[in-house]
Amino acid sequence: MIDTHSHLLPWVDHGCPDMDTCVLMAGAAAASGISTVVCTPHLPEWDPALIQRAGEIIEEVRGALASAGVQLRLLLGFEVDVAVAATVDTERARSLAIEGSPGAILLEMPYVGWPVYMEETIFRLSTAGFVPVLAHPERNDRVHKSSELLEGCIKAGAVAQATAGSLGGEFGRASMRAFYRLLAEGSIQLLASDAHAHRRENWTMASMLASLEGMVAPRDVVRLTETNPSRLLAGDKLVASASTANGTSWRRARRRQSR
Ligand SMILES: [Fe+2]
Repeated sequence: MIDTHSHLLPWVDHGCPDMDTCVLMAGAAAASGISTVVCTPHLPEWDPALIQRAGEIIEEVRGALASAGVQLRLLLGFEVDVAVAATVDTERARSLAIEGSPGAILLEMPYVGWPVYMEETIFRLSTAGFVPVLAHPERNDRVHKSSELLEGCIKAGAVAQATAGSLGGEFGRASMRAFYRLLAEGSIQLLASDAHAHRRENWTMASMLASLEGMVAPRDVVRLTETNPSRLLAGDKLVASASTANGTSWRRARRRQSR
């Protein structure tokens, strides 16, 4: 599996406090079958010092993992606030794309409200050759009510990435329900951990995948956690959902979650 969203790097945001925890998190990820982690520190504003520091820290982490015998490929990216994405020029946006990819860029969705420039920003980035990846749209309060705004962004060139925490209950029932609904509608093309040190159950994708067991066919799990992440990194078009939604199972899942 390839995890395309993680706060594994220490010292750059509120994700991981120190190198020892980082090595533990990485070891857990590797042991769970994750081969590659995209490290995506928050970027709440344009911050060249943080971007440079993240590049230095990932090298330190690679060294620490090698010393600890943890076999895990790390790639650098950022979780870019949409307001930052809306204002940076193409050259700056390139420096925020996932390392090794032609232009995959992870955008942190707002949790409340929907910026008027959202769709236009995605269109501008996608026409410039980027693939904007929307992190956890299921946690947005507008998406809780309707898929329409998200669908507009997907038509403008974005892909949607659901994350493990939304099934853990920490972000409320509305996020959980939206997760299932978007997956059933075929809007979700990537699953990721969004690992933070204080959410141990999200160090891997195991708890999320256990929650989805029986609702998502094994081939779709592979598509969401391996095939599409791999294609994203290679710059290939992601494989759309054809069979994720199983009406009976999804209705059952929704009933289960709404209790
Ligand atoms: Fe995140």
